[in-house]
Amino acid sequence: MKMRNSSSIAIKFLMLVTLANICVSQDFDFFYFVQQWPGSSCDTQQGCCFPQTGRPAFNFTIHGLWPNFNNGSYPSNCKSVENSFDESKISDIIPRAEISWPSLSCPSKKKNSTNSDNMKLWKHEWGKHGTCSYSVLDQHAYFDFTLNLKDHIDLLQILLNNGIKPDGEMYSVEKIREAIKEGTGFEGGIRCNTDASGNSQLNEIVLCVDKSAASESFIECPILPDANCPDDVEFPIFYESPLIDTA
Ligand SMILES: *[C@@H]1O[C@H](CO)[C@@H](O)[C@H](O)[C@H]1NC(C)=O
Ligand SMILES: *[C@@H]1O[C@H](CO)[C@@H](O)[C@H](O)[C@H]1NC(C)=O
Ligand SMILES: *[C@@H]1O[C@H](CO)[C@@H](O)[C@H](O)[C@H]1NC(C)=O
Repeated sequence: MKMRNSSSIAIKFLMLVTLANICVSQDFDFFYFVQQWPGSSCDTQQGCCFPQTGRPAFNFTIHGLWPNFNNGSYPSNCKSVENSFDESKISDIIPRAEISWPSLSCPSKKKNSTNSDNMKLWKHEWGKHGTCSYSVLDQHAYFDFTLNLKDHIDLLQILLNNGIKPDGEMYSVEKIREAIKEGTGFEGGIRCNTDASGNSQLNEIVLCVDKSAASESFIECPILPDANCPDDVEFPIFYESPLIDTA
């Protein structure tokens, strides 16, 4: 069937305009790079589970790389057919992701299952966040870039250098903030959660990355994530590590 009349052209034009608007609203301004302390997942009411590959290293792990707007809101679930999650596209970097980006969530529906599901986490992070930066990073590049970011910053060492240790003691959020600023050169966002007895604890540290994702370096955050920590917070034990001098 030929559709050459003016009304069908007008309809096509309208569709294009609508599509253009969707694309514009799916754009973003910068990334949040979010790392989490595994001990702060494990001591919560929900507890934690480890992947089949075993207990994660005594270190911060990646939560995600999240496109964000300068006004504080963020785009999410920018899913399309072309960017749907494909496990085979990241097979070469799975060994690195298993170390730096493990899932700590217990599979809720599987009773007594002891293993978390890494692939489920990666699929979720890609679908909710990664798809919204598809114009800059395709699926492989998104995971590769995020893992590279982690390699460029040793948050645990930065905190340890300042006497801030995951030993279950209380630390001033201001001190943590200063340590991050001194160690990275940038103001970081600090996010807290609560342990099973309701104490606030250091859960996540957020740094910002330029939207071009051109280099594994950080920028001053255009807007910091919502501060939800009291003045002093617990830095929970993950497990007893020889790295921690308890003397
Ligand atoms: C924030 O900015 C984005 C992009 O400009 C816009 O789409 C969104 O509606 C804004 N959100 C708020 C709450 O202002
Ligand atoms: C689940 O695990 C608990 C604790 O290990 C055990 O006591 C219980 O019998 C298990 N339940 C099933 C259905 O296997
Ligand atoms: C923690 O991760 C950082 C960044 O990837 C790495 O440089 C450091 O060696 C790790 N520390 C430990 C104790 O594994």
